[in-house]
Amino acid sequence: MAGEKSKAQERNLRVLGIETSCDETAASVVEAGRRILSNVVASQAAVHAKYGGVFPEVASRRHVEVIDRVILLALEQAHLSFEDLDAVAVTRGPGLAGSLVIGLNLAKGLALASGLPLLGINHLEAHIYSLFLQEETHPVRFPVLCLIVSGGHTELILMKDHGEYQRLGATLDDAAGEAFDKVARLLGLPYPGGPAIEQAARTGRPDAYRLPRAMLEGTWDFSFSGLKTAMIRLVQRLGPETRPGTPPALGSLPLPDLAASFQAAVVEVLARKASQAAKEFQATQLLVAGGVSANQSLRRSLEQAASCPVRMPPAELCTDNAAMVAAAGCYRALAGSGDPLDMDVLPDWALGVTNGSGATRRV
Ligand code: KG4
Ligand code: ZN
Repeated sequence: MAGEKSKAQERNLRVLGIETSCDETAASVVEAGRRILSNVVASQAAVHAKYGGVFPEVASRRHVEVIDRVILLALEQAHLSFEDLDAVAVTRGPGLAGSLVIGLNLAKGLALASGLPLLGINHLEAHIYSLFLQEETHPVRFPVLCLIVSGGHTELILMKDHGEYQRLGATLDDAAGEAFDKVARLLGLPYPGGPAIEQAARTGRPDAYRLPRAMLEGTWDFSFSGLKTAMIRLVQRLGPETRPGTPPALGSLPLPDLAASFQAAVVEVLARKASQAAKEFQATQLLVAGGVSANQSLRRSLEQAASCPVRMPPAELCTDNAAMVAAAGCYRALAGSGDPLDMDVLPDWALGVTNGSGATRRV
């Protein structure tokens, strides 16, 4: 594959990436799989904040409203037109079906009109490729262990080569980011909950409350729903006298200590399991991606726990963006695999599902 990588650099493939799997409408042009020529993200976070989470119909409508402008802006900022591109890459799944369809249909239209190859990209694979955008300064050597921690996923994936993934484990219930979002809501903090909890935790004591850490020994799976339930009980216990069935007055809660104790529990489980897996599978590096990888406490704990180098994307590439989609698309384009124009979205698309006998190729 080293040969393929140098081909990417030689040929300087330019790929337009499009991302609409959740609540970010994004477009980007990436050259040679690692040079970001433009990276436009229209976030809907403020729109969804009043619902305390992503409202799927609202997300789809908002994608429709802004996607044309986002793509034009990405081309304009890259100083390129369609004739200068080599392929169009778009997130095909996993994600919200109604949101994915907007990006995919637009990408199909662009590919049809321009004659460019179309590539349907797995969103989790794209998160992993956010680390390949730093290839120039931080080359990736296989095998690598990938921890993907986002609002919808918590997965440990062994990446043996470009496009070759073995899924070791995943969350059995809530994703790490989802746990942050739900607990933030419980504590009266805004959506998205991760940054809000991290901020609140700054002045809190991580050992203020004893909270469960589900290690699920013997598996590489995760579980955060018990922790969430423990937080609900704790808030009920700490809250002032309230009528049954009504929430406690949030203003009176020891917010920093609650946030810090919760964050410490999530971070400890993620750091311990990811570093153990990296060691067991003799990974040369631990790649961490997805929205939760922006968390500074997680970054520090992973660096302390892991016996191999840990790599995390810069903050702007942790959360959903299209540069990572374009980067994944560059490597797919080099491998020569395009997708048909009649492909459909895959809202539940898993990455590298194991069949019990080892790694499977991209599914
Ligand atoms: O990758 P992403 O942008 O979207 C999905 O594919 O889900 O991740 C969003 C998630 C949200 O749950 C958000 O609360 C979480 O990432 N997040 C964080 C932080 N920044 C974003 N979680 C913990 N600490 C953060 N600093
Ligand atoms: Zn994501």
